[in-house]
Amino acid sequence: MSRNSGAKQRAGATLGRRDFLAAAGAAAVSVTILSPKTVRGAEANSKIELGLIGCGGRGNWIADLFTKHGGFKFVAGADYFEDKAKGFGDRLQIEASRRYSGLNGYKKLLEGKLDAVVVESPPFFHPEHAAAGAEAGKHVYVAKPIAVDVPGCLLHAEAGKKATEKKLVYLVDFQTRANALYQEAIKRVHNGDLGKLVNGEAVYYCGDTWGNPDYNNTNAEERLRHWGVDKVLSGDIITEQNIHALDVATWVIDEAPLRAIGSYGRKARSGSGDVNDHFGAVYNFPNDVVLMFSSKQYGQGYDDIGCRMFGARGTIDTHYGGGVSIRGAVAYKGGNTGNIFTDGVVTNIATFHDCITNKKFENTTVAPSVRSNLTTVLGRTACYKGTAVTWDEMMKANEKLEFDMKALKA
Ligand SMILES: NC(=O)c1ccc[n+]([C@@H]2O[C@H](COP(=O)([O-])OP(=O)(O)OC[C@H]3O[C@@H](n4cnc5c(N)ncnc54)[C@H](O)[C@@H]3O)[C@@H](O)[C@H]2O)c1
Repeated sequence: MSRNSGAKQRAGATLGRRDFLAAAGAAAVSVTILSPKTVRGAEANSKIELGLIGCGGRGNWIADLFTKHGGFKFVAGADYFEDKAKGFGDRLQIEASRRYSGLNGYKKLLEGKLDAVVVESPPFFHPEHAAAGAEAGKHVYVAKPIAVDVPGCLLHAEAGKKATEKKLVYLVDFQTRANALYQEAIKRVHNGDLGKLVNGEAVYYCGDTWGNPDYNNTNAEERLRHWGVDKVLSGDIITEQNIHALDVATWVIDEAPLRAIGSYGRKARSGSGDVNDHFGAVYNFPNDVVLMFSSKQYGQGYDDIGCRMFGARGTIDTHYGGGVSIRGAVAYKGGNTGNIFTDGVVTNIATFHDCITNKKFENTTVAPSVRSNLTTVLGRTACYKGTAVTWDEMMKANEKLEFDMKALKA
């Protein structure tokens, strides 16, 4: 299945190595000053060997960025569908014996000799795939959202901690967190430049990212092929896509929400999928901070992934692919985040390399990813229920989304 994301998000996929290093900034320095010591037993300046789990649109796209970095080489690929594993294998010249398919393909991939795994499968499988990667002693690079439910988020929290103990890198790929403008503006908020935080908003407005495909939605394989419009496999749009906005909001507020209440629906979409096309929620955070959240995934004419928070003395205003600034008593001019869709990934790839080669195993992206992912689950739960739900109630319920896999190939 392929994503109809905006042109700005597709642009830049053909980045050259010079642009790559420029975009990656300081983190890329490690590429040239690679320690003469061995990297997991490999020769100095040899490449980190990677396996890809989920050889779809994002997997193939990101594989090219890993390859362009220069410090990585894909040696294996796994996808549920054989044609996808073969397509990826042919493109990256991976040995036929190291292309795996079926539900357990990823397990066979992890049994092979490789240093790290890149997880680009549907969100429903991320906890299982990423945690198994770390369990097998591989460094893990995993796409957002990290999970579709509470147990999945908790599995990542645990796996991230274990990875640190086992001296493994476990990195979650959020582009905003890798962006210098977001980092600087949010650092200033945390330093108190806005004064007391009062309220604000997080929004994600876009068109129908996955189209409105017609398929047999009682067939498990068909559901897998169309996971982006499947509530269980994607976590619904609030988790799969809107997380980019809620991740920034929880980063700015630097807290998990206490409770949420909201509404949602499916009115402008068609096709066989069951994801909704809009969500609206009010989140209450500690210290009486209020966040209004609004999203849509249909129609045309307006796109934005934004977060704006108001404090007693100023306002932070952020847009993925647009401006990031602070206005008010202590202003920050900021700038335009431009092609953050690609640049953020380029930086994350360079950071992944730097952390592996320079043995930085703090895995600082895990905890904030767990927090923002759970924030999306809280909003979704409250919206579905139509009543206020507290964080504690959500955690206690520990609800797991179920997908019947009996009909799928092992
Ligand atoms: N800006 C971003 O950070 C960003 C952008 C796009 C996608 N993503 C994320 O990347 C991930 C992949 O998205 P995509 O657009 O590549 O989707 P896709 O459908 O193109 O690719 C997913 C692949 O996973 C395969 N797959 C399904 N079940 C599997 C299983 N059990 N084991 C192995 N493979 C399996 C599918 O066959 C498919 O080839 C998603 O989590 C998505 O949210 C992140």
